[in-house]
Amino acid sequence: MKIKVDTSLCSGHARCAAIAGDIYRLDDNGYCIADGDSVPEGQEALAQRGARACPERAITLVEE
Ligand code: F3S
Repeated sequence: MKIKVDTSLCSGHARCAAIAGDIYRLDDNGYCIADGDSVPEGQEALAQRGARACPERAITLVEE
């Protein structure tokens, strides 16, 4: 499963990282920089929760 982050939508709410900080890394300004990363094996449900927590709907998860 791969992470896609629409950087034009991410506004730095950091709710993704609050739920799954190891998956959704943030830059120094609080914007998500996980675009293109693969979700670690077994952490798919956590990744989904983090994606759903984003109020901007900036994160989508795609099957590889
Ligand atoms: Fe950005 Fe949404 Fe996370 S706005 S920092 S992707 S909660």
